[in-house]
Amino acid sequence: MPETEKTFYVTTPIYYVNDVPHIGHAYTTVAADCIARYKRLKGLEVLFLTGTDEHGQKVEKAAGGAKVSPQEFADRVVVRFKEAWERLGISNDDFIRTTEERHRKAVEHLWEVVRKNGDIYLGEYEDWYCTPCENFLTGMQLKDGRCPDCGRPVEKLKEESYFFRLSRYTEPLLKHIEKNPDFISPDYRKNEIVSFLKEGLRDLSVSRTTFSWGVPVPNGPGHVMYVWFDALTNYLTAAGYPDDIKKSCRMWPADFHIIGKDILRFHAVYWPAILMSAGLSLPRRVFAHGWWTIDGNKMSKSKGNVVDPIEMADTYGTDQFRYFLLREVPFGLDGDFSVKALICRINSDLANDLGNLLSRSVSMIDKYREGVIPSADASKDAGDEEKLKGMLAELKASFEAAMDSLDFSGALSKLWAVVRELNAYVDRSAPWKLAKEQDDARLSNVLYTLAEGLRILAVYLYPFMPSSAEKTWDALGIPGGIKGRLFDREVVWGRKYSGEKVKKGEPLFPRVETAKNA
Ligand code: MSP
Repeated sequence: MPETEKTFYVTTPIYYVNDVPHIGHAYTTVAADCIARYKRLKGLEVLFLTGTDEHGQKVEKAAGGAKVSPQEFADRVVVRFKEAWERLGISNDDFIRTTEERHRKAVEHLWEVVRKNGDIYLGEYEDWYCTPCENFLTGMQLKDGRCPDCGRPVEKLKEESYFFRLSRYTEPLLKHIEKNPDFISPDYRKNEIVSFLKEGLRDLSVSRTTFSWGVPVPNGPGHVMYVWFDALTNYLTAAGYPDDIKKSCRMWPADFHIIGKDILRFHAVYWPAILMSAGLSLPRRVFAHGWWTIDGNKMSKSKGNVVDPIEMADTYGTDQFRYFLLREVPFGLDGDFSVKALICRINSDLANDLGNLLSRSVSMIDKYREGVIPSADASKDAGDEEKLKGMLAELKASFEAAMDSLDFSGALSKLWAVVRELNAYVDRSAPWKLAKEQDDARLSNVLYTLAEGLRILAVYLYPFMPSSAEKTWDALGIPGGIKGRLFDREVVWGRKYSGEKVKKGEPLFPRVETAKNA
């Protein structure tokens, strides 16, 4: 279908409302935002989805603890997520809540399709359950009698349950993974899933009878759907399933489900098996990122070390926090968060390298050319300009490849090689000397090269730090802004500046004084 080439559908997990937003939620959401903004710049029609997972035993318990109904509880917490995403500059096109009517319709429909295909039957579940993970476990899987994933106590269940014939899909899933080597990333995570599949799959319990906060099973009185069957379907609901066929044909399958490593099995085993059963296409790629520890420790409410993304953005700046999340750790690996490391990145990469490059370039254009970006005479170029232009021309393909594989830190380090090169170029070409020697032609070329280099860099940076990228264009006096432009057109060297005047302003990234935070 040629149309699908022009669309891009990316999702985050939908977050449980028993918790308020923390750095883990922010991480996936910022990453998805970055790729969504990039694909929009590439001219694609993007559907970027995030939302909240509002059903299930865990949320019901949390609401009980707060002495409100689960719906009231969800209504309260969802506001916190929406606020956080606004504060972090998240450009989601849709926000789904699993308690919405459109979602109930979609899950009921999917359930019926899977049932009609012979993959749902009534039986009895007798084994263990981890409520914090909303996960069924066998006795063999327990570690010291506790959940092997979160280490918390589990409960023994014995109840009537509908089952999904997951066991049928072991072979089809293995084949799909083999045929589609990019389906699960990174590779080491794919290998974990392949080993898990090779052990063979057991049928999955997909309904519960001992609580009621969920989507009722159609024609299954007393049963509510397993929260993961319900939650995973959100990706279809937002793509218009089942009624909006035009939208779902255009948007489904999703291009990327971005998730944390702890929920890979749900996305790379259960979800594709359900889709296979329903005769629907599988998502193109599932990417599992790593986890943040905080100052070397596991993040937890009891340790009191939960990192609040709003507080980070308020204290250090939204773009600074976004940059840190995507730069510090290769996407996929675990990493450690500390305020010290954040400040270090802000002061060295942002204030010293990029911010300084912009402020010195703007100051020199202001001082030597009364603020007007001069035109350049390519015949007066020295080897240095050629080298920079070559570097920028080569950047495009490698940057695009990094972005397409969600290698955010790799993409940023390629950009910083250019930032550093431009700073070194200022030192080497010494515009202050050229001004003294009245070498006007060379001086104009150097100032033009700096403006042009910064203009292009800002386009590359836009997906990561949208507001700083726009401020950079504004400082260069370029009208209209970056948003809504086309990447391929804008990253080309040689814009003709016709009298645009730079604007001297506040530093883009103020240094953070470390003594205060030591
Ligand atoms: N509701 C399910 C997802 C359903 S998707 C159909 C869920 N929600 S969650 O709120 O518990 O977690 C969401 C995400 O936060 C997961 O991707 C998880 O990996 C991520 N993180 C939670 N703590 C984290 C860190 N400390 N570091 C990085 N990400 C972490 O699971």
